[in-house]
Amino acid sequence: MIPFEQRREILERVSQTFGTPSYVYFLDDIRERAAELRTAFAHRFRLSYAVKANPNLKLLERLRAPDLNIDAFDISSGGELRRALAAGCSPSQLSFTGPGKRDAELSAAVDAGIGEVVVESVAEACRLASIAKAAGRIQRVLIRLAPKRVPKGFGLNLAGKPTQFGIDEEECLAAILEVKQLDDLELAGFHIYSGTQCLDEGAIVENWALYAALFQEVCVAHDLRPRKLVFGAGLGIPYYDHDAPLKLLDVASGIQPILETLTAQSRFGETELHLELGRYLVGEAGDYLTSVVHKKPSRGTLMVVCDGGMNHHLAAAGHFGQVIPRNFRLFRVTKPSPLAVETAHQICGPLCTTIDTLGRNLRMPELEVGDVIGIPSSGAYGLTASPTAFIGHDPPREVLVTRNALGDFDLEEISA
Ligand SMILES: Cc1ncc(COP(=O)(O)O)c(C=O)c1O
Repeated sequence: MIPFEQRREILERVSQTFGTPSYVYFLDDIRERAAELRTAFAHRFRLSYAVKANPNLKLLERLRAPDLNIDAFDISSGGELRRALAAGCSPSQLSFTGPGKRDAELSAAVDAGIGEVVVESVAEACRLASIAKAAGRIQRVLIRLAPKRVPKGFGLNLAGKPTQFGIDEEECLAAILEVKQLDDLELAGFHIYSGTQCLDEGAIVENWALYAALFQEVCVAHDLRPRKLVFGAGLGIPYYDHDAPLKLLDVASGIQPILETLTAQSRFGETELHLELGRYLVGEAGDYLTSVVHKKPSRGTLMVVCDGGMNHHLAAAGHFGQVIPRNFRLFRVTKPSPLAVETAHQICGPLCTTIDTLGRNLRMPELEVGDVIGIPSSGAYGLTASPTAFIGHDPPREVLVTRNALGDFDLEEISA
């Protein structure tokens, strides 16, 4: 990753050139992450990018371009299908997950020649089979399995409780038989994504071991030689002050013997293993920038109002999957004056609601109007997961930073 001070200077340049609020994505960091993932797992896994994490069109173009060469893209709506195709992804690189796929979306996917539809229920598989039949195609599918258990340590955990996602492990053997019997579908393998935002290496290994055991069990029971098995990765990134970054090499060394045992069996000899992930690839490559427009001392705290907040970054305001809102790490892009006195701050966005708060009880040298604040780990589930229409402020700009041949950094606006 680009060292902090250099990154801060680039962000300052972005704020001066494009203004704030803005999202800034560092392409070289994403490239580095992709390379780390590939080498850590000794190229056993292909990388599948979950488009929902950040569906910016130009970013998708870069992810699929030869230098990054992300192998596959997982979409979850008709809109994401159109985006992925517009970005130049080949239909065969795409998979389509999601619990509420409508017939029109399934038809569009089948007509486009999508690689696989990840069916989440037998009823959905039956609808898809009729659509494929009407289109005169055999559609390849993966079955999404919903495991009984996820190890402790996952920030968001979908397992073992009633869920709209996938086919419950307890019922999957009978369900797989029903899907296998649908003539217009080809069962190409299985998919599991049961938890995310995990910073505990041991828990990730244990979770993937559960995936591997379930994949093996269903393939043996149905005598299948799958083309593809998708491991929904669940790799987490640091958001809060005491979060330590994941030790990817520890995950890799823990999972290696399990993958070796799996792939040593002849039924998995030709199977592609995919690691499906979003935030670990693009999250830490992005920063959100917002500037102070107004400040007001109030009852012992300096209330600082910024030009963007929850409307652009719901997660940083604590409302995207968090049970208790906590401050995301934030940093000053504009350096404080050496004379600034330390004081308690509350950093708010511009919306007319108290829940639009980006930082509570923060002690730091006093911020001034015009100062720019950065929120790291904002490249995934930032703009795309935020209520931008609420109160009608303009959307933030999106800027891509790329290192050029001279070693300088080029800035390109990539707003939708
Ligand atoms: C099916 C599926 N795969 C992958 C992901 C990506 O998760 P993450 O960005 O945490 O890696 C998601 C996120 O919700 C998902 O629903």
